[in-house]
Order: sequence, then C-alpha cells, then structure tokens
Amino acid sequence: MSAVMTLTKEIATEKENEKDALFRTSPVLEIKNLSISLYEDKGGEEHRLVKKLNLSIRPGEMLGLAGESGSGKSLTASAILGLLPKSLSVSEGQILIRGQDLLNLSEKEMGHLRGKEIAYIFQNYQDSFTPFIKIGRQLVEALRSHDKISKPEAKKQALLWLERVKLPAEQIFSSYPHQLSGGQLQRASLAAALMFEPVLIIADEPTTALDVLTGEKVLDLLAGLQKELNCAVLLVSHDLKHVLKRTDSMAVMYGGQIVEKGATKSLRENPRHPYTKLLLKARPILRYTALEKFAAIPGEPGLIAKEGCTFALRCPLSFEQCYMVPAMQPAGRFQWTACQAVDREKVDTNA
Ligand SMILES: Nc1ncnc2c1ncn2[C@@H]1O[C@H](COP(=O)(O)OP(=O)(O)O)[C@@H](O)[C@H]1O
Ligand code: SF4
Ligand SMILES: [Mg+2]
Repeated sequence: MSAVMTLTKEIATEKENEKDALFRTSPVLEIKNLSISLYEDKGGEEHRLVKKLNLSIRPGEMLGLAGESGSGKSLTASAILGLLPKSLSVSEGQILIRGQDLLNLSEKEMGHLRGKEIAYIFQNYQDSFTPFIKIGRQLVEALRSHDKISKPEAKKQALLWLERVKLPAEQIFSSYPHQLSGGQLQRASLAAALMFEPVLIIADEPTTALDVLTGEKVLDLLAGLQKELNCAVLLVSHDLKHVLKRTDSMAVMYGGQIVEKGATKSLRENPRHPYTKLLLKARPILRYTALEKFAAIPGEPGLIAKEGCTFALRCPLSFEQCYMVPAMQPAGRFQWTACQAVDREKVDTNA
C-alpha cells in the first residue's frame, strides 16, 4: 500500500472515530422549547400545561424529572412517546431523537419507534400485559411484531431477557400476569421494555406502586441494564430520594416549567432556585405519602402564577420583579436556574 493510500485510510479511520465519539456523546433526546396546551374548544382559549421546556439526555445518562404532583412531568413523558391525551396537543417546539423530530412522524412511524427505539416503563406495570395471555406468548408476539424472527428464536430471546431481569425465566414465561407478584410483574415489564435494546427508556414513577425494598431492587436492575445497553434514561419521579440517588442530571419542574436543571450533584449540594431548596428541605427521612411529603412547602402544589414566575404565589422570596418571566441562566458550572433572585443575589454580593 502506498504512503498516500495509508494516510488517506488513517484520515478516514480518524474521521470515523470522531463520528463515533460524537455519536456517543451527542444527545439521544433533545427537547427544544416544548409547550403542551389544552384548548377549551376548537379555536378557543389556550391553557399551557407545559411551557417552553428544554432538556437533553446523552447515551448512558440518567436524567431525573422531579417536582410535585401536577407539575407536568407525565405530560412531558407522554409527549415524547407521542401518547398525549386527545384533548391536548404540542403547541410549539421540537422533540428530537438522535436529531429526528418526532413531531414530524406519522402515527405508523411513531408506533415503530415507540417500544423499539423508545421504551417505556410506567407506574401501572399491570398495564404492560394483557391479563389473560401468558407472559411468554406476549413477549414472543411483541418481539415478532417488531423484528422478523422465527418463533423459536423469539422464545429464546424472551427467556434470555427474563433471566436478565433476574426472574425464574421458564416459570414466568408460562405464567399469566395475575400469577406474578408486583415486583415480578414490574421486572417482567422491564424485560418487555428493554428486549429491543432501546436508545431511550422513559420510566414514569416506576416504583410508586411497589414497596420501598422492591422498588429499590427494580431501580438497581434498571441502572445495571442501562449501563450494559449504554442507553439514555428519563426517570420521572415525584420522589426526590430516587432522583438524587440514581441520576446523573436532573430537572425540577413547577407549574409546567423547568425551574432548575443541571448535574444532580450540583443541584443537591448547591440548589439555587427557592423551589428546589424547599423540595430538598421537605424531603422526608421516613416514607410519607406524596401530600405529607410536600406539606413543608407553603401553599398548594396547584397554585401557579399566571404571569411571571410560576412559583411566585408560594415563594417566600418573591419580590416585584418576580412578576416578569424569569429566564433560565447559568448558576454554576453545570447548573441553570430560572429565578430573579439569583440575579439579586449577584447584585447583593457585588454591592
Ligand atoms: N388530559 C388532561 N386534560 C386536562 N388537563 C390535564 C390532562 N392531563 C394532565 N392535565 C393537567 O396537566 C398538569 C400536569 O399533569 P401531569 O403531567 O400529569 O403532572 P405530574 O406527572 O407532574 O404529576 C396537571 O395540572 C393536570 O391536571
Ligand atoms: S423568581 Fe421570584 S418568585 Fe420565582 S422563585 Fe425566584 S424569587 Fe421566587
Ligand atoms: Mg405523573
């Protein structure tokens, strides 16, 4: 091989490696300026339930979406899956999976992506399976509906995945859903979600219906499999404990908006937004119900200011300027906060 050919080959390999590195590090999911609206009737008044949301997740990253009940977490997750309730719609923005805007896909294309490229694990894991069909048959049919593989090959893969989620594979394969415990069913639904080796997993309150110990085990399993598959995970949880313990990055939502986001470590050690601070303070040592958990934050979770900062009606630090919409601004190396007081802090410190 001539010197020129060798050099050309080396440059091509280098370019391939660069592309690989970029692919590994460029986001799997990018949400840009996403708003989700409810219209009273056709052409009627618009109510924005999610407002101008921006976030991204890279391969191997677990991002936690936290916030009280009603803050817009599940609507965001449903929009990514193309499963918003009929009465709601995306009124602006983009949802990009590896650069492809999901909002431009047909229902059929979206159906193909959902379940295969984007897997989802819900709180109601019972809904992952049809009650009167054995788990094995359901897994085999799901595998064969996405990939053209033979029945024996699909059975082999289904058994393998039941093993990977640490279930007695043969036994679960020939069981009906109601014969499984809650923890077993959630593991089986994990197998059903991950067997296509998705690039993105959306887990919406995956442990809320489980007891503490079983829930922790399911999350351990999810974290382990995420590492093996190097996929991105969006962990939606009102339980800050899970988000703080498990995720690499997090976004805190209030009233349909992200009020603070960044590296989990950074937000945990140095929360800047009053809502994040109160959420962290309200975090229980023992297990309480969701309502008790947030009782320490003044006011009700649904108290959302119509103008300016969504948290203004509950914020102990609010001042006149809070009735202007706060912009998201850097508040640390890996942290962004939407709060007028962050600016005020800066002014005060500089004075
Ligand atoms: N189908 C719907 N029609 C009207 N409002 C809805 C619908 N679904 C959710 N909402 C409202 O949108 C807000 C956000 O809901 P959701 O995303 O489910 O919150 P979270 O998951 O954070 O608890 C809530 O105020 C809720 O009442
Ligand atoms: S902008 Fe104002 S009301 Fe909103 S969180 Fe900051 S201080 Fe509180
Ligand atoms: Mg929810």
